[in-house]
Amino acid sequence: MKRQGILITLEGIDGAGKTTQFRRLAQYLRRRGYRITATREPGGTRVGERVRSILLASQHRELAPLAELALMYAARAQHLDEVVRPALARGELVVSDRFNDSSRAYQGYGRRLGLATVEAFDGVICGRTQPDLTLVLDVDAGASLDRAIHREARAQSKHSRFEQAGLEFQRRARAGYLALARKSPGRVKIVRANRPAAEVQRELRMLVEAFLRVRRPVG
Ligand code: TYD
Repeated sequence: MKRQGILITLEGIDGAGKTTQFRRLAQYLRRRGYRITATREPGGTRVGERVRSILLASQHRELAPLAELALMYAARAQHLDEVVRPALARGELVVSDRFNDSSRAYQGYGRRLGLATVEAFDGVICGRTQPDLTLVLDVDAGASLDRAIHREARAQSKHSRFEQAGLEFQRRARAGYLALARKSPGRVKIVRANRPAAEVQRELRMLVEAFLRVRRPVG
């Protein structure tokens, strides 16, 4: 099947304000007339949401790093099959709140499994379906973990396993994102997120618009 759509992913460590920015960006692109599929990982499908609850549950402390990685890719395989690839084949603009760079940053760097291990899964499951543009919201790990913890306290929900993994883990994940941006500067763009939300949103829109001027989805 010829691929005609475009895949844009939004990434960043926990508490970088990603979810709000993602929602606003998707709304904006819809208003601009693009045919959009907005989705998220881990999850985005019925099966994927169930895998997500295993992954995030704070009581699953024993989950081995490789089991965590395999579950992320299990959810991703389902997401690709049900949502991402069909939408791309329809020529849509797919925007995903997290995608495979989360596995590179969190499992590759955060859990120290290494990039080669992540890429082995990625080659089989994502293959050539890679993001065309990736926007990384970058904040200091200490500040963002505080934000994430406050948000969950307000929602009276338990901290996810990833927030419980602590500051050093979030720092390694952040360093992972920065390393990915150095490795693929054409695709991965770092956006400083310790600024007013409206400014961050403006920069995200600018980067997406600049990209779409060069490569438009066919749909
Ligand atoms: P979520 O509540 O969606 O966090 P956020 O709002 O910050 O996106 O939880 C998703 C968690 O899963 C988050 O801590 C990052 C982690 N994650 C990975 O470790 N690897 C992955 O491949 C993905 C997609 C997410």
